[in-house]
Amino acid sequence: MASLTIRKLDENVKTYLRLRSAKNRRSVEEEVRVILRELIEGREEPLTPLAAPPDVAPASASQRTGALPEASVTLIIGGGIAAYKSLDLIRRLKERRIEVRCVLTKAAQQFVTPLAVSALSHERVYTDLFDPQSEFDAGHIRLARDCDLIVVAPATADLMAKMAHGHADDLASAILLATNRKILLAPAMNPLMWNNASTRRNVAQLQRDGVALIGPNAGEMAEAGEAGVGRMSEAVEIAAAAERLLRPPVPRPLAGKRVLITAGPTHEPIDPVRYIANRSSGKQGFAIAVAAQAAGAEVILVSGPVDLDDPDGVTVKHVESARQMLEHVQSSLPVDIAIFAAAVADWRVANEGEQKLKKTSAGMPPLQLVENPDILATISKLTDKRPPLVIGFAAETEHLIDNAKSKLARKGCDWIVANDVSPATGVMGGDRNTVHLISRKNGENDGEIAVDSWPVMTKEQVATELIAHVVKSVADKSLEPAS
Ligand SMILES: Cc1cc2nc3c(=O)[nH]c(=O)nc-3n(C[C@H](O)[C@H](O)[C@H](O)COP(=O)(O)O)c2cc1C
Repeated sequence: MASLTIRKLDENVKTYLRLRSAKNRRSVEEEVRVILRELIEGREEPLTPLAAPPDVAPASASQRTGALPEASVTLIIGGGIAAYKSLDLIRRLKERRIEVRCVLTKAAQQFVTPLAVSALSHERVYTDLFDPQSEFDAGHIRLARDCDLIVVAPATADLMAKMAHGHADDLASAILLATNRKILLAPAMNPLMWNNASTRRNVAQLQRDGVALIGPNAGEMAEAGEAGVGRMSEAVEIAAAAERLLRPPVPRPLAGKRVLITAGPTHEPIDPVRYIANRSSGKQGFAIAVAAQAAGAEVILVSGPVDLDDPDGVTVKHVESARQMLEHVQSSLPVDIAIFAAAVADWRVANEGEQKLKKTSAGMPPLQLVENPDILATISKLTDKRPPLVIGFAAETEHLIDNAKSKLARKGCDWIVANDVSPATGVMGGDRNTVHLISRKNGENDGEIAVDSWPVMTKEQVATELIAHVVKSVADKSLEPAS
């Protein structure tokens, strides 16, 4: 049976469903089920768009671009004085683009009303395990699983005791027992209840079971004259803890590092309309730039002429010739890591025509070639601004490893990524690459040379692997930041 994730639906469909479910006082999932049932029975309501109420805000920029992934929480509100703070928590979660569906225990309804909770969450509120409206298809199981996280706030001593002992005699405890989602508890109770031996045992058991806790904080209690540990964490603290569990921070091992990457071919002009080029697509260098940026580095990509979109979050400098590429590379220094993946032309035309060269009866114009600057060797041999880690690429069509080893020695770089670009491999312009990482053992100039041969990979995989090696090297050497 296919399952439908509401939050992945088109915004207009979602808005329609939300409005229709609110009108019918049903949850969005229930509304979808009703629509499907009616369709099957041939008595569906016409899909006329419901007028949006005036306070429905247009999608924010982040919603339109999908910058933040949506997430959903089942919020269980227990019967404690702090239940009023859960009303604010609903707002704080929604601010973070987290959908909230609420469950109130019987005791919680003595402190906050289902109506207030429903008005703030824009969803139906659930209170009863034996509700025929939502239990026709085991609604408590849906509440337990159709979410990314369960938050219990306030988590009463009673609810935690039930959880620790596996009780399921009401909707909240049945959901907590039936879930396979992460659970976050925000305990709130009188300090003596919190310090009671049975509560201590229950909390310890729940922590062993993998349940996450936020708080309680120390402070004044609702009971006059009492203070101590037991106040529920503030709504913003709970929302932030929920967000950390829902969207764990991505590791950024190259944060604070500047990485310079070259990519693509160079075009060496013959005259204003003609040039010498090579078959490099720039895909490998661009993939490395994306991987370095994802690892948190500040990335400068100097690219020859390519047919690729500039990667997001990367500073791209577009150049044509080898000399322009060198100029931009030099002006981008200092950097912590330089990766020269561009296929720079070895030669350029010495006698570049100022006007378009014409066919004449005198025969073909003699094209004199002169050597281009060697960007890899120039940067590797710098004495002042040499990047601590310089990586070159060797594109060879024969004697790959031997040629790459001698290139490593000749150019003075730290590593060479050697790839076989003979036509049969399809590497030039293709999406896959087979590479060998050639480096000096122990980083010594006169030391032994290590060859690490990688299996056939996509260029993105090669990029990820190379950046993983860079991260390891940075950690081992603890490179000083470029200044
Ligand atoms: C005024 C009042 C305030 C209460 N505050 C708390 C509290 O902060 N924490 C707590 O664990 N229990 C508190 N209780 C006790 C719970 O409401 C009681 O244990 C109830 O059975 C909890 O039900 P629940 O866990 O299903 O929500 C309070 C009771 C009353 C009458």
